[in-house]
Amino acid sequence: MATDPAVTTAYRTHTCGQLSADHVGQTVTLVGWVHRRRDHGGLVFIDLRDRYGVTQVALNPQIDEAAHELAHTIRSEFVLQITGEVTRRPEGTVNPRLATGAVEIYARTARILASSQTPPFVLEADEPPSEAMKLKYRYLEMRRGPLLENLILRHKAAAATRRYLNDLGFLDIETPMLTKSTPEGARDYLVPSRVNPGSFYALPQSPQLFKQLLMVAGADRYYQITKCFRDEDLRADRQPEFTQIDIEMSFVSEEDIRTLCEGLIKTIFAATVGVDVAIPFATLPYKDAMERYGSDKPDLRFGMELANVSDLAGACEFKVMKDALANDGAVRGMPVTGGNAFSRKDVDDLTAEAIRLGAKGLAWIRINDEGEFVSPIVKFFQPETLAAIRDRLNAKPGDLMIFVADAAKVGFDVLGALRVSLGKKLGFVKPGDYAFVWITDFPLLEWDPEAKRFGAMHHPFTSPKDEDMALLGADPGAVRARAYDLALNGVEIGGGSIRIHREDIQEQMFAALGIGAEEAKVKFGFLLDALKFGAPPHGGIAFGLDRLTAILTGCDSIRDVIAFPKTQKATCLLTDAPGEVDKKQLKELALKRDLA
Ligand code: AMO
Ligand code: AMP
Repeated sequence: MATDPAVTTAYRTHTCGQLSADHVGQTVTLVGWVHRRRDHGGLVFIDLRDRYGVTQVALNPQIDEAAHELAHTIRSEFVLQITGEVTRRPEGTVNPRLATGAVEIYARTARILASSQTPPFVLEADEPPSEAMKLKYRYLEMRRGPLLENLILRHKAAAATRRYLNDLGFLDIETPMLTKSTPEGARDYLVPSRVNPGSFYALPQSPQLFKQLLMVAGADRYYQITKCFRDEDLRADRQPEFTQIDIEMSFVSEEDIRTLCEGLIKTIFAATVGVDVAIPFATLPYKDAMERYGSDKPDLRFGMELANVSDLAGACEFKVMKDALANDGAVRGMPVTGGNAFSRKDVDDLTAEAIRLGAKGLAWIRINDEGEFVSPIVKFFQPETLAAIRDRLNAKPGDLMIFVADAAKVGFDVLGALRVSLGKKLGFVKPGDYAFVWITDFPLLEWDPEAKRFGAMHHPFTSPKDEDMALLGADPGAVRARAYDLALNGVEIGGGSIRIHREDIQEQMFAALGIGAEEAKVKFGFLLDALKFGAPPHGGIAFGLDRLTAILTGCDSIRDVIAFPKTQKATCLLTDAPGEVDKKQLKELALKRDLA
């Protein structure tokens, strides 16, 4: 019999997902887990399961005494090896839902390779187990199916990425995990050095500086699918360790990188979900993204765009709005399509959500089906002002208009978040819709009111736009960066920039960030040194593989596309990490635990 090295091993001839009517009459050996066991008087049926599928096995105790024994011993999740003949299932018992549903194996010999305790949750139940159970018994959760499916899709995405980039001459080069801090805006995970007591490595927040050094080295085109570590507050789309598709190229413009990435995304979508993504993607300057969607990662699958109505609201008598405008604030509004149908409670809930998001309240005006404005605050407005606001918001009869009067950032954050949650609630986002958009023209720097200084919006190695260079000293907040993010369905799936390749400009950038020459030398001297030796113009990007896979699989959390993820508190329920270490280890590392 011809053997297939992708399948055949010392234990099996075929997988549990492979056999069909074509194999009838062959003697095969399968291995797998007992998925289900059904007793039919004379016969015992077992659904034998492996990664590839399920095959029905029939044990006939009347023919075979050993099979009889076995049939009564085995339970769910035992590991079996079965040898027998592939037979056509009798008329009426064919299972069209199963790839192997036309056949069954009449077991001649059967062997238990491993027994199993009763699993802590029923693997074939429709209801998934609790999140804690899923994490603690990750290997059983994987046997259940959906998680493994997600990991298979993730594998396909990574494999397609490698193929695409390899074909374009990119080199896959590894960069260190034990390194110095790379600032990407989060806290570092530190690793104490035993041989250098009192010194610490930082785990990389990204390979950023090394990939730039590889460009100085002449590598020209680099990529790596690699782990990054960030000690930050966790959310559904954040893990303390996550995976980037990290890319860097020499002698490129923003356009070159965007074109490369559009090809990459198209390739990944074709290889994973079989969707033909239309390219090039839309682009939207940061400022417009904020004004229209209140977000720098807007979800473009639906409308309900924000608008600034400060000029119109300026003429009203509503104290809340007048006060906000007098305090340098703005009044921003958003139409809620079909929102006139909201009950009073719906509107109250929306207000409560706005307050939770940081607003002082939420003003609202219904437009009924006759086009009349209905709200306790209508009396504060001239009718023509209401009509002008309605037109500015592009609102229609049957809609609800909502307003936040506050500092610009509050208006953006609150309405931007309400827009996303309402878009979902109102059913405007459908599975299989993919809306990509490049966000461009980011500010280079961001004012940090707590630290009272500027911080890098992207990272300190991002190049300012040439035409804004002169502003770096005089008006740093107005300088735009040569940075770009790719947003998909309201998620930032990637971000990058053209870098600074001149030492003098890198020094100016550090100065604008309030990083003195001495500090710059200690932290980034190796980069500044490298920039002295002929650094090519270069740029790149990194995609979040976890986030991209979550969207491709339709998962709400990136946890569901990671084999062994951490909880919200950055713990691993499977291994119980992080854990205590003994005194001897601490002593070797010259560390003392402060119990206070
Ligand atoms: P950035 O910090 O934007 O850029 O990261 C790139 C992408 O990585 C993903 N990502 C995360 N995914 C899961 N959990 C996290 N905690 C997390 N943090 C980030 C996002 C993000 O878009 N060195 C630069 C890239 C460059 O300039 O080339 C960088 O790391 O999808
Ligand atoms: P008040 O005058 O505080 O009773 O508020 C009247 C209405 O305005 C209520 O619906 C509040 O939710 C809303 N409101 C209060 N503050 C703001 C604000 N800053 N922006 C928008 N609406 C607000």
